[in-house]
Amino acid sequence: MTITIIGHGYVGLVTACVFANFGNQVGVIGRTPEKIKKLNGGDPLIYEPGLEELLQKNLEARRLKFTLDYDPTIKNSQVVFIAVGTPSGDNGEANLSQVFSVAEKIAENLKDDYTVVSCKSTVPVGTNRKIKEIISRKINSSVKFDVVSTPEFLREGTGISDTTHPDRILIGSESKKATKIMLDLHREISGERVVTNLASAELIKYASNSMLATKISFANLISFYCEKSGANAEQVLSAVGLDNRIGSKFLNPGIGYGGACFPKDVKALIHTGHELQVNTGLLDEVENINKLARNSFAEKIIKNSKGKKLGIWGLSFKPNTDDVREAPSIFIIKKLLENNFEITAYDPEAMKHIQKQFGNKIKFVDDPYKVSEGTDNLAIFTEWNEFKQIDLKRVKKLMRGKVIFDGRNIYDLDKMKELGFEYHSVGRKTISV
Ligand code: UGA
Repeated sequence: MTITIIGHGYVGLVTACVFANFGNQVGVIGRTPEKIKKLNGGDPLIYEPGLEELLQKNLEARRLKFTLDYDPTIKNSQVVFIAVGTPSGDNGEANLSQVFSVAEKIAENLKDDYTVVSCKSTVPVGTNRKIKEIISRKINSSVKFDVVSTPEFLREGTGISDTTHPDRILIGSESKKATKIMLDLHREISGERVVTNLASAELIKYASNSMLATKISFANLISFYCEKSGANAEQVLSAVGLDNRIGSKFLNPGIGYGGACFPKDVKALIHTGHELQVNTGLLDEVENINKLARNSFAEKIIKNSKGKKLGIWGLSFKPNTDDVREAPSIFIIKKLLENNFEITAYDPEAMKHIQKQFGNKIKFVDDPYKVSEGTDNLAIFTEWNEFKQIDLKRVKKLMRGKVIFDGRNIYDLDKMKELGFEYHSVGRKTISV
């Protein structure tokens, strides 16, 4: 099939590479000349495991092309995907300006023959109908098209396997013809097929992300109970997760969820709730607990640090990505700087982005051991694999103090006691020396 994808962020680019790799001809439309040039040169612009190789392979095979031009890319396509951003607006609502302006451009370039316009961007319930209206207003009667809603469930860091082996392929459609074309395009991809109307598909995306965020906030809430009562959050939540009806995933307490999706999507669902006059108390509390999780960890550091030198391991909002959007690290670092901490930090991929925000207020080094050299305290904000089995004896020798704050519970309590660290984690007892 020949397809177009508008947008080359995590969703657009991963989807483009995966579809090209199945033999489709894929045109990707962007709006920044330098970025398009880099993408055509094989630079994915983002760090996502396996993506650079897949991009280069499919560019070489001439199945993938990046362009600024809607014409003729769209005219040649049977399916046109919208995969642009829907950032949070001032009141938490999803900002749909990019989606709507792209819909106008699609309308100007559709061929007379039939095209499916498929929206992958996360958009509030009712948006796909508006996309249909925008396009309908601009075209003449010979142009035929349908709009379908195909939300994406890929995670950063595992984007390629999530796209080739998803739990489900969701198609919101009110046209049999469009549904058939979309099912055909996804033929090589595993996962349950779910076909719904447009509104249900739109809501399934928000409900899924909000459910996952709710599980995380619930885990953080239970970790607060554990810290006050002497229970161990790791044991409590893993036992809770053993109940098949609950499941163990996304029950890890920590310093809260971040990233470009959960914070934005929970806010947007709250906003939609206000519009529809639905009580949003549960979701309000999910957000509150998320803020509490990162604030109480910052307080823990401020209260228990011995000395003002602090080393930080991990800055990205989760491992295997360089993304720092809404990363808990940013909120915590701001508080620590207000409290006059001298910070040295290391992250395998995300330092350049944090550097843009904090400049020389933080010292960056290229190795986790260098972070520990001469520091009074050490804090872990992201559970990158390279920290999990690091030589902690060496770390202890390099540090001036011996206090570790672990926001992701990556170390065993007995081991930390044996090594002689003062060890503060989340929802577990403090190891003192
Ligand atoms: C999330 C969803 O998992 C994807 O299904 C969805 O497609 C995507 O949003 C999106 O809407 O585009 P992502 O934001 O990449 O994916 O990352 P997650 O793995 O979901 O993690 C989100 C945050 O939750 C991270 O900050 C992570 O550290 C935190 N988290 C996750 C916890 O604090 N505890 C957990 O148990 C799990």
